[in-house]
Amino acid sequence: MIVTIDGVAASGKSSVASGVARALNIPYLSSGLLYRAATWAALSQRLPLTDAAPLLSLLNRWEADGTPLTLRPLPQGNEIWVGEQNVTDLLHTTEVDAHVSAAAQLPELRAWVDAQLHRISPPFVAEGRDMGTAVFPQAQAKFYLEASARVRAQRRVQERPQDLESVEAALRLRDERDARQSAPAPDAVHIDTGSGTLEQIIAQVLSHLPA
Ligand code: CDP
Repeated sequence: MIVTIDGVAASGKSSVASGVARALNIPYLSSGLLYRAATWAALSQRLPLTDAAPLLSLLNRWEADGTPLTLRPLPQGNEIWVGEQNVTDLLHTTEVDAHVSAAAQLPELRAWVDAQLHRISPPFVAEGRDMGTAVFPQAQAKFYLEASARVRAQRRVQERPQDLESVEAALRLRDERDARQSAPAPDAVHIDTGSGTLEQIIAQVLSHLPA
């Protein structure tokens, strides 16, 4: 079984996907973490984000050298490793936040991320922007999470040392830049995560799953 959970920035996708996956005792895959990792890789090597070729050759070189950038879909939280180095803590910075949407526009990078995800065998819960549309259109159950920009910003300030106004502005900008790949699947169940506890939202998702 494949369950997809898509939605806008900071709509609660990771927390909901992790909770649903734990309830089903299957892994969850954070596609956004792969986009963040590729963006971090480009920034750390001072590669441009306007051209996919240098970034893809870096990713391919790491793979050929035996230090591939890989997603580890652990139930308690996904991790990104480059060879034997866990780089997950470097991926949720305001710098990565500011550049990730540009990287995510590169079709060659989208194809690379999709290929990493397609290597993993179901069952799993996949979360991101286009899981139910472009990547796993055959999924048995699809969800689309929404919440107002203010509610999402309030959540993010718990995780980032920044003021509410600038976090909300950055989220709105990212929503605009990500709009192209963020259209909900026509068959997705929409859930507003602005009201209700995390447990209630997880229960709501579980109640829609096929028996
Ligand atoms: O957690 P948050 O919603 O802030 O973002 P994320 O899921 O970590 O995704 C980070 C960025 O990756 C997004 O802003 C998109 O630019 C990109 N992304 C994408 O284009 N397609 C996906 N399936 C997942 C993420």
